Amino acid sequence: MSEFDVLIIGAGPGGYVCAIRAAQLGLKVACVERREALGGTCLNVGCIPSKALLHASEAYHEITNTVSKMGIFSKSVTIDWPKMQEYKETMITQNTQGINYLFKKNKISYIQGWAKLETANTVIVDNTRINAKHIVIATGSEPNSLPGIEIDGERIVDSTSALSLPSIPKRLTVIGAGVIGLELGSVFSRLGTTVTVIEYLDDILIGMDKEISKAFLKILKKQGLHFIMKSAVKSVVNKKKSVLVEYKEREGIDLKSLESDIVLIATGRKAFTSNLGLENVNIERNKMGQISVNEYLQTKHSNIFAIGDAIEGPMLAHKAEDEGIAVAEQIAGQTSHLNYNLIPSVVYTSPEVASVGKTEQQLDKQNVAFKVGKFPFLGNGRAKVNFASEGFVKILADKITDRILGAHIVGPGAGDLIHEICVAMEFGASSEDLARTCHAHPTVSEAVREAALACLDGPIHS
Ligand code: NAI
Repeated sequence: MSEFDVLIIGAGPGGYVCAIRAAQLGLKVACVERREALGGTCLNVGCIPSKALLHASEAYHEITNTVSKMGIFSKSVTIDWPKMQEYKETMITQNTQGINYLFKKNKISYIQGWAKLETANTVIVDNTRINAKHIVIATGSEPNSLPGIEIDGERIVDSTSALSLPSIPKRLTVIGAGVIGLELGSVFSRLGTTVTVIEYLDDILIGMDKEISKAFLKILKKQGLHFIMKSAVKSVVNKKKSVLVEYKEREGIDLKSLESDIVLIATGRKAFTSNLGLENVNIERNKMGQISVNEYLQTKHSNIFAIGDAIEGPMLAHKAEDEGIAVAEQIAGQTSHLNYNLIPSVVYTSPEVASVGKTEQQLDKQNVAFKVGKFPFLGNGRAKVNFASEGFVKILADKITDRILGAHIVGPGAGDLIHEICVAMEFGASSEDLARTCHAHPTVSEAVREAALACLDGPIHS
């Protein structure tokens, strides 16, 4: 006799959402979590705390740079870093406790501890054996370092320790111009830190539409961030009072160096799947530590599922959530829906960057004939009023059918604007469908409609 219908290992966005959906569908659910608080990386040391610091630093920047243009003056504005940290911690607690409330409301058993698979139907949590008909592995990911470089959490930090630095550093070197490096780099840059980003590739934000990443790089440089591109970091040494980074230009021979107070290693994350007892059930992991699953997210055991960062695919909270819902629905005997082609990605900088569907480079590679509709926020009245007219919306549509194939935005509220295009694409919309949809004036969303018009006879305001 099983104690639970579903036992989920990990209470991040993948695991806790799976638990709630399964409970809503009438299943008896348990969720095991090693941390004291629910919510996983996202709520405790990822999305939520970083967004708090992004929001606070943006508010500071707004007060020190923009509000005087609107006739608002203040004598002195100072940063109280411990207070800013306190605000961040409060936001974490409010959000994680919200999940506790949802667990209670949905009668989900929350078991704190380390779960290890014993058999395909039993899990051991701190010497207690728990039986379950279905098991979902939702153990997430952890920061990846570079070979030979040890993250000490003091001067050489990862995305977790960077959120809780004891003070605002004067000089910060960020290794890796990915989402984490640029989000945290821009937080500290706005707070007065001199930030230098070292990136191995030609462009920032690997995989992003190249026109967008080039435009965004220009914006970040204008904001004062420094970039050393096409360079590989070779060593990072904590010299106690500073850190020395040695790097080599990709085509160069000489080793160059850069000294700073803190170095943030933001060179990717890896699946967090070790010490789970996978060997007891013959589930193997690939070189990246990821667990292989079929299209139904099942491992080689049809009752053991894996989701989120623990498997292949973009390491995004909302991808994990969708997979969690899909698995819960399948276990409950329903048909689920997952569309990996329409997972939006957002960089929560200021301005934001957002993207969904195919990039120009992907369409070129697939020999798809397409048209491009672009509209700059400079032509949008509301964006101008808000002093947020940098960037543009770009829509890619099939040349023959006009069906929207991709959309890329750099600009104000890009992370929210992208979703009307996601919905349109989910329904197979054409750029004309979007262009003929009335958008309220004055809103920044009009820029999306104008970009759709640009795929047709042309936008009105540019
Ligand atoms: P990333 O994989 O996005 O970027 C890492 C960058 O480091 C790459 O551009 C790579 O070329 C560079 N790099 C690697 N080794 C290097 C070296 N030795 N020298 C110089 N450059 C080097 O990784 P990131 O930013 O750490 O993010 C990890 C994961 O977390 C990603 O999958 C990301 O999507 C996810 N994430 C998503 C967020 C969001 O959606 N807003 C926020 C935070 C994380």
